Amino acid sequence: MIDFKQIPPACYVLEESKLVKNLELMRYVQEQSGAQIICALKGFAMFSTFPIVRQYLPGSTASSLNEALLGLEEFGGEVHLCAPAYNPQDFQELLRCCDHITFNTLTQWEQFKAQVQVSPKKVSCAIRINPEYSEVENDLYNPCVAGTRLGITADKFGEKLPDGIEGLHFHTLCENNSDTLERTLAHVEQKFGHLLHQAKWLNMGGGHHITRSDYDVERLIRLIKHLRQTYDLAIYLEPGEAVGWQTGFLAAEVLDILDSRGVKVAVLNVSFTAHMPDCLEMPYKPRIRNAQDPLPQDKYVYRMGGMSCLAGDQMGDYAFEKPLSVGDRIIFEDMIHYTMVKTTTFNGVNLPSIGIIKPDNSFQLVKSFGYQDYRNRLS
Ligand SMILES: Cc1ncc(COP(=O)(O)O)c(C=O)c1O
Repeated sequence: MIDFKQIPPACYVLEESKLVKNLELMRYVQEQSGAQIICALKGFAMFSTFPIVRQYLPGSTASSLNEALLGLEEFGGEVHLCAPAYNPQDFQELLRCCDHITFNTLTQWEQFKAQVQVSPKKVSCAIRINPEYSEVENDLYNPCVAGTRLGITADKFGEKLPDGIEGLHFHTLCENNSDTLERTLAHVEQKFGHLLHQAKWLNMGGGHHITRSDYDVERLIRLIKHLRQTYDLAIYLEPGEAVGWQTGFLAAEVLDILDSRGVKVAVLNVSFTAHMPDCLEMPYKPRIRNAQDPLPQDKYVYRMGGMSCLAGDQMGDYAFEKPLSVGDRIIFEDMIHYTMVKTTTFNGVNLPSIGIIKPDNSFQLVKSFGYQDYRNRLS
C-alpha cells in the first residue's frame, strides 16, 4: 500500500514497477522484431529514471538542442534528432550530441550537408517523409493535414535517395494501435518503396501505443519483420507516451470548496493549464482515483477547479463516495507523460514536485521547485 501522507501535494509520482512493466514489453518487442525502440524525450524526460530506462532502450530521440543535450548527458546510448528545422547557430553542437539526424526538408539537408560531411563524428542522416496518410482525427496531432509543414511528399524525391542520406523517417501516428501502422505502411511502401530499398534505416516515429492493454504487439512484430526482410533495413520506433503510459499520477490537494449557483467546485493546488495542459489542449477528461463520471442521482459531485486565473482552468464534474473537504487528496491518474515536459509557471503557480514510488512502496522525493525556478525563466 502506498502511504499518501509521505507525498507532498502537489507532486508528480512515478510508480517504478509500472515503468519497468512497460519497458519489459518494449524489450520483448525489440527482441522479437529486431527493431530498436528509443525514448522520445518530448513525451517522457524524467531523467531520474533514465538509469532504469537505459537498461531496456538503446537511446533517446530529441527535438531540440536542449533535448539532445539531455539525451547525451543523462540517457546515454544513441541520440537521434528530428525537428521541423534547425538553427544554424545550434548545428555544430547538435552534431556533437547526435548520432542520427532527420531533416524535415531537402532544403534543410542542403543547408547543413557540408557541415555533416566534414564532421569528425559520423552522423547518419535521414529525410522525414509524408506518406499522406494518417488516421489521427484531431488536426492538432495530424502531421498529414493539407498544408502540413511536417515531412516531404514522394513527388519531391527523384528515383534515388539524395547523396549522403541513409535513412527515412515518418511520424503520422498518435495513440494508435498496430492496425493503423499496417495501413500506414501500405502507403509508405507504395509511395517510397524504391527509396526504402536504398536506405539503411527507417524510423517509424512515435504514436505507437505499445503499452496500452489492447495494443496488438504481435502484429507490430510481424510488420517490423516484414520491413527488415523486404528492404534490409534497421528499424527504429520512437515512442514517448508509450514509455510513460499509466506509470503514475499527479497528487493534488483541495484548497477550497465553493458553491457556484448549485455547482460545487473544489479548487485545487494544481492547475490544468499549467500542470496538465493536454487535458485542455487535446482535450480529455483525466481519471481521478476513487471518483466516477457523475450519474444524475449521484450526491457528492464536484467540479475540479485549477488555481490559475484562467476561467477555463477547470475540469468537468466527478462523483465521489463521500463529501470532499479542504485538505483532501485528489489523485489524477496517468499524469507522467506529456505533463512535466509541458508545465508552465503561468500565474507564478509553483511547479509540482517530482517523486518516485519504489517497488517496495517507499516514496522518494526527487525534486521540489520554488521561486527561483519561476524567476529563472524571466528577466
Ligand atoms: C517526430 C516525433 N517522434 C516521436 C514522437 C513521440 O510520439 P508519442 O509520444 O505519441 O509516442 C513525436 C510526438 O509528437 C514526434 O513528433
